Amino acid sequence: MSIVVFGSINMDMIAQTPNLPQPGETVIGSNFMTLPGGKGANQAVATAKLGCSTYFVGRVGSDSFGKDLLRTLETFKINTGGIFIDPKISSGVAMISVEKSAENTIIVIPGANGNIDESDVNRLKLVLPKTSFLLLQLEIPLIAIETAAREAKKLGVTVMLDPAPAPDNFPNCLYPLIDIITPNRTEAEKLVKFPLNNDHSIKKAANVLLNQGVKNVIIKLGEKGAFYATQTDQCFVPSITVKAIDTVGAGDAFNGGIAAALDRGLSLKKALKWGTIAGALTTTKEGAQAALPDLATVQQFSEVGS
Ligand code: RIB
Repeated sequence: MSIVVFGSINMDMIAQTPNLPQPGETVIGSNFMTLPGGKGANQAVATAKLGCSTYFVGRVGSDSFGKDLLRTLETFKINTGGIFIDPKISSGVAMISVEKSAENTIIVIPGANGNIDESDVNRLKLVLPKTSFLLLQLEIPLIAIETAAREAKKLGVTVMLDPAPAPDNFPNCLYPLIDIITPNRTEAEKLVKFPLNNDHSIKKAANVLLNQGVKNVIIKLGEKGAFYATQTDQCFVPSITVKAIDTVGAGDAFNGGIAAALDRGLSLKKALKWGTIAGALTTTKEGAQAALPDLATVQQFSEVGS
């Protein structure tokens, strides 16, 4: 397999509402859905839908959500051999609110994802030698992420980290293990500890991360696209214009798009285009995994203007 995702699997409980409630406010929503999600699982589905052989290492609980979540990953032809069904805890869930403007808020209850430990890293180690890309996010314990990244690095596997959700104290020792980091604006602000409110501060944040030892920094800028930087190169990458209705999973689609393009041997420039296209298209449909675009659609959009 060429792409391995080590990360979270959640059941998303999604409330649609005209406006997100303010603290202390009750609002009447318009719709409720229960759909498979989790940043790890979403990124795995994104790469699988883009035609990549994808393997997953993680945990679900031995509850009905766990069964549904596993079945969904299998439907997308993801190899679930690295997923442990934890008998001691429930599956991860995410309480998501999406307002009319397409913006969302998310509370994640990690459940089985939070129990990930060395035994899961040991299952990951079995497949790493046959892997080109390791996709990580931060919805599982940081210590497991660190060990996984270190093991991948030893084997020359490309490590792509989505620092979401960004912790208050990101361990500096992790930066040199990362080939590609992909924070969004708020996550980058948490990492560098200053606001990203203009082009200058975006570039400055990318430099801080590069100087910590990351090889490639990609700051996701939503509808504005992304900013890409290495020690020798940098550019803003525009997004495509779409009518967004739900931004859940757009960041995961972006990461899946980048990894899938690189895995297919495309240039980094093309990969950035795939990332922005996949992210934008995901906002045009409801939910996370069901909204992720397939290979033909991304290829079609990437040919326009190239
Ligand atoms: O990135 C979107 C995802 O974040 C949702 O699917 C939810 O499960 C949370 O992990």
